[in-house]
Amino acid sequence: MPNSDKPREQWGSRIGLILAVAGNAIGLGNFLRFPVQAAQNGGGAFMIPYFIAFLLLGIPLMWIEWGIGRYGGKFRHGSAPGMFDVLWNHPLAKYLGATGLFISLTIMIYYTCIESWTLGYSIFSIFKMYFVDNPDFKNMKGFLDAYQGVSAGHGFDSIWTAYAIMLITFGINFLILYKGISAGIEKLAKIAMPLLFIFAVILVIRVFTLGTPDPSKPEYSVWNGFAFIWNPDFSKLNDPKIWLAAAGQIFFTLSVGMGTIHAYASYLKAKDDIALSGLSTAATNEFAEVVLGGSIAIPVAVAFFGVTATQEIAKAGAFNLGFVSMPIIFQKLPFGEFFGFIWFLLLFFAGITSSVAMGQPIIAFLEDEFGFSRKKATISLALFTLTCVNLVVFFFKFGFLDEMDYWAGTFGLVVFALMETILFMWVFGADKAFDEINSGGDIKIPVIFKYIMKYITPMILLVIMVWWLLNDAIPILLLENLKEEELYKVPYIWGARILMLAILGIILFMIHIAWKNREMNKSMEAK
Ligand code: PHE
Repeated sequence: MPNSDKPREQWGSRIGLILAVAGNAIGLGNFLRFPVQAAQNGGGAFMIPYFIAFLLLGIPLMWIEWGIGRYGGKFRHGSAPGMFDVLWNHPLAKYLGATGLFISLTIMIYYTCIESWTLGYSIFSIFKMYFVDNPDFKNMKGFLDAYQGVSAGHGFDSIWTAYAIMLITFGINFLILYKGISAGIEKLAKIAMPLLFIFAVILVIRVFTLGTPDPSKPEYSVWNGFAFIWNPDFSKLNDPKIWLAAAGQIFFTLSVGMGTIHAYASYLKAKDDIALSGLSTAATNEFAEVVLGGSIAIPVAVAFFGVTATQEIAKAGAFNLGFVSMPIIFQKLPFGEFFGFIWFLLLFFAGITSSVAMGQPIIAFLEDEFGFSRKKATISLALFTLTCVNLVVFFFKFGFLDEMDYWAGTFGLVVFALMETILFMWVFGADKAFDEINSGGDIKIPVIFKYIMKYITPMILLVIMVWWLLNDAIPILLLENLKEEELYKVPYIWGARILMLAILGIILFMIHIAWKNREMNKSMEAK
């Protein structure tokens, strides 16, 4: 039964709120995913579609989500089903909101797993546990594989170290969620975000002062590294894939299209500003991404391995860059164990301030729609995620994580973003929606954004969705993208899909129950 007598939780201070939302947005995506995307998709030229996507998708969706979130909060809804229900008076609306819960919950399950590797590696760095006499890609990949349980080898005989660190990481996440909005999430952000910025600045300074680490190879310099990541290759702009990659990165990095911004915004007061807060958090994220994220892992890789090898590293993906190439570099740098420690701790802080955000929508859903206490809601979330995460950990090598990342973390975001934009700007109404976003605002949003949000944003989303569906999603769904030697993954990929369908099914069923209870309560009150 929804508990409407208790006052709703609130943020303690404006700065705390901004740090928490910035913490939600700034994550592993800023420091690992972004540099890989930029390096692979045209370097400096990538910034053109990237900034266009930021202006036409990122910022508008940020405001839309803050707007929907604060509006839903007025009706004591902290998650998408309830919010959609108040935007659109139709029995279907709440079920569409299931996507918001599904995406954040699914991402939380695997993202927290990756986050636990960063915690592990910060400890391994300070104690020099991966340090060897001749560090190279082979032995560092071997260390990572052994840690992740992909193959036995150097360092670990089993997956249990990783498992223990994973449990600790989840434990910290649940503790913070249990403490609640201002005593948990806000407090974490107030400590972790300043530290994250300090660590990043130390690392950026270290990178800038690297020069040419090996004087016998003058082309291996950090300046060539910057040239590599920022040199525009305009010919790439003809490829629609680059534009999609840019849009995908904007979604992931700003945490839009997932329901987490809504949850945070629902704890605002009706008169609180969202226009300026939304903009500042987006801008802070971009600073952390482009300026800090772009200046660490890739330039330093070029300084140590050269441009050609760095291209290979980028192709091998974000995990390789963070957990293989960086550990080699730390072994070559004086005081590398210290720099390794702060690099991985930075990633851990970036990760945890995002993963708690992914847990909050479900907690809010259980509290607001089922009247659960925070304790009961947190325990329920813990039991559920800890059951599911076992599959991710043990089946990691079979592509379980990648499959979840594709459907929830890439495709799902666009679907959810399209739904919320249509509901807010068309069903609820563009004028009302724009007034809602501006109300209490410390700045006035230029009116042109009303039209962007109403026409341009949904149109681009629709085009992306259809393009993806045809070129990507259907081939992936039919497993046409698998190579011969990857066919052993097929049963596990289906396993991941069944798990995701089950998660979605459970959420839909719970929404059904919650609203049925509500109807019953209403009719009892009427009697
Ligand atoms: N924005 C986060 C990042 O850049 C990821 C994230 C995804 C955060 C989903 C919240 C919800 O890593």
